[in-house]
Amino acid sequence: MVLPVPSPVPAAPAVPRRRRRRGLVAVLIAIPLALLVVGVAVWFAFNATRPTPPAAGTTTFAQPLRIPALAPSTVEDGVRVFRLEAREGRTSFVAQGETPTLGYNGEYLGPTLVAARGERVRVEVRNALDESTTVHWHGMHLPAAMDGGPHTPIAAGETWAPEWLVDQPAASLWYHPHLHGRTREQVDAGLAGMFLLTDDEEAALTLPREYGVDDVPLIVQDRSFSADGAFGGGLGMQFDGVLGDTILVNGTIAPYFEASTERVRLRLLNGSSARMYDFAFDDGRPFDLIGTDGGLLASPVESTSIPLSPGERAEIVVTLTPGERVVLRSQAPDPALHAGGAAFDVLELRAAASLVASPEVPPTLAILPGAREADAAAQRSFEMSGHEINNREMDLGRADFTATVDTSEVWTVRNDNPLPHSFHVHDTQFRVLAVDGAPPPARLSGWKDTIALEWDREYRLLVRFEDYADPTTPYMYHCHLLWHEDQGMMGQFLVVEPGQKADLRRPEGDSDDHDDH
Ligand code: C2O
Ligand code: CU
Ligand code: CU
Repeated sequence: MVLPVPSPVPAAPAVPRRRRRRGLVAVLIAIPLALLVVGVAVWFAFNATRPTPPAAGTTTFAQPLRIPALAPSTVEDGVRVFRLEAREGRTSFVAQGETPTLGYNGEYLGPTLVAARGERVRVEVRNALDESTTVHWHGMHLPAAMDGGPHTPIAAGETWAPEWLVDQPAASLWYHPHLHGRTREQVDAGLAGMFLLTDDEEAALTLPREYGVDDVPLIVQDRSFSADGAFGGGLGMQFDGVLGDTILVNGTIAPYFEASTERVRLRLLNGSSARMYDFAFDDGRPFDLIGTDGGLLASPVESTSIPLSPGERAEIVVTLTPGERVVLRSQAPDPALHAGGAAFDVLELRAAASLVASPEVPPTLAILPGAREADAAAQRSFEMSGHEINNREMDLGRADFTATVDTSEVWTVRNDNPLPHSFHVHDTQFRVLAVDGAPPPARLSGWKDTIALEWDREYRLLVRFEDYADPTTPYMYHCHLLWHEDQGMMGQFLVVEPGQKADLRRPEGDSDDHDDH
């Protein structure tokens, strides 16, 4: 019997051997060439079309820096009470028209809250928007039910009044909405403010601390404006979220600050939703890095630049000479962050013709406990990839893990993408044990709650959970590039008493089949 002939394959045309070899050579050249062209196109799409602020050195600093008001407070039954109202507003940023914005107690951004360690605080947050929101106290150690994450929405017209004991070192914290899927939109519209903590140790140091005079909050954001003045417009959405071509500091475009003292403490907050910065002065002058996210460093670190990813803070002290002008700018971020971008201007410091003398920055700032990995009760790892963590998207109904109160854990975090990502944990301030097995740079030696992740490096973090257990309400961890967070690059964990059973509650009104934004 004749075997069936397999489906006919067209016979190869008779090509002379030498021609065939030349064809092969052509293909071998064409493939890498095509890959190169695609690579260049992707690089071009990623970098050359990104909204970019005007080049460093080209800004005319025309507006005095706005300083957010200090939030008034009253003391009621031993509790310091603040009142915030999230509301709609209109802000005049650009000539082409007013910008619809959101703000707390005002048109854009919010007042600065200040509280001391040891105080009980309550913040009565009224939502005067026509949509739900939440308010999260970024960097604060507090019970999960007070944390203001996606499990505690405030419906339009409602008031939420979380109360907690401030019990952590002096630090520059901040607050912003955290509604699941809508965080970027609400923060970018203007809902954000600073929350400064003081303590006796910090108060005893000779550091500048006169608010708005020699101790200045700088909420740095990037925005773009459309033809009618509204936010947005231009190229906007990128792999990392929405970037803008205009830098705002405390809501001021092209700001200058008139310094009256020899030393100025700047509390830098990267309040942008996606942009990475590397802050430096235009003359390369050194400054003292004195604090990071969760408090003062052990001693000042003389630096010429400080990189900050979205959500991170740094406190620096810069020394001025009478009559000079010096510009705070951002240099191009570290290429390992894959954030792209070139240098641009942020703020001009104008020193008065005569400056009030300031004491030198003390050589010792704080006592930091040694970070010892041996105490860890658990080890966990977090792979950041795409818009997922450990190959999972955020699910409000799923606790990704459960930790035990009053224990420490070692978390290993890695960014698997050549895309910018960061890592933020609620409730706690962590310490960086190692970056790729080596001790961290001095700027990462203190308290941190958010860290930029260079591609393919391994960050080992010592994370501790103290005081508060709650088997029903979780805390969050996530990438702080807010669009990534909204896309689901977030997870949640419960902190329970030893032996207590986790019993995560889905927030009211949330179902597990909600659509992806
Ligand atoms: Cu500043 Cu969970 O965020
Ligand atoms: Cu947070
Ligand atoms: Cu990310």
